[in-house]
Amino acid sequence: MADKVLIATEKPFAESARNQMVKMFQEAGLQPVVLEKYTDPKDLLAAVSDASAMVIRSDKVTRDVLEAGKNLKLVVRAGAGYDNVDCASAKDRKVIVENTPGQNANAVAELTMGMMIMIARAKYSGKSGTELKGKKLGVHALGNIGKIVASLGRAFGMEVCAFDPFLDQCIFDDCCVGCITKIEDLYSSCDYVSVHIPATPETVKSINYALLSKMKKGAALINTARAEIIHEEELLKIMEDRPDLKYASDIAPKNAAAFMEKFADRIFFTPKKMGAQTAEANTNAGLAAAQQIIAYLKEGKVLNQVNP
Ligand code: 3PG
Repeated sequence: MADKVLIATEKPFAESARNQMVKMFQEAGLQPVVLEKYTDPKDLLAAVSDASAMVIRSDKVTRDVLEAGKNLKLVVRAGAGYDNVDCASAKDRKVIVENTPGQNANAVAELTMGMMIMIARAKYSGKSGTELKGKKLGVHALGNIGKIVASLGRAFGMEVCAFDPFLDQCIFDDCCVGCITKIEDLYSSCDYVSVHIPATPETVKSINYALLSKMKKGAALINTARAEIIHEEELLKIMEDRPDLKYASDIAPKNAAAFMEKFADRIFFTPKKMGAQTAEANTNAGLAAAQQIIAYLKEGKVLNQVNP
């Protein structure tokens, strides 16, 4: 019997991307099953029960999901961040977890620039705004997305610098960006700070009052990474204390209503995480995920494993 491959996306891929994935699996002799827009996690538990592999996006793969997937060997997160997967439980159950790094980076970077312009132009309200040209952009983490944001920022005529303690100086040089060695210096010297760190136990709530209080007068924080990395209560507090600061985020904080009530003209939140929500990003990440699943199920090849 053909191995079942589940494509489980609460937030579906663009139709063309999903159809190409289905075709790839069929041509490889696998049996694709699609579960989209599910609202009850029980639907995922039922759908995974006889799957050998699964493609997901931000879908939560908990211990329960892994236990329900009795035949499950591989989970591929079509995207970069895998904070939605219980990687330790997967390891316990000998389930490989992979991601598709870089495949949706351009889409996220473009949204980042869009949010910067939206903030600079007073949320398109008709009020006079400012320009990005000549402003200083600080990129917090110079990974696949941060590098594209840096390059787009330079194309806009911004002065770009970055903080990334995990990289050698040569990477900063290759990207033609200034290297900032202390995170506080990034926040204190830039007009726009764009965050591109993953959500990990170390980074959750790490963007806190102490760091935000260092921000330059009139600066804006752009978050197209994860809501969890921001200390939301402390963000609310600093925005009360500093009426000059602005915040734009791809996905609203939990206490979005309080932010909207108090600072509507200097915040912006997307209604749903949409950084990677383009046909191109869905095609790149979806097809890469499908290729990785076929490579594993047909040839035993493990690519981009994140839970070794
Ligand atoms: C990622 O980590 O790749 C992005 O946040 C995209 O997430 P999504 O696939 O849920 O849109």
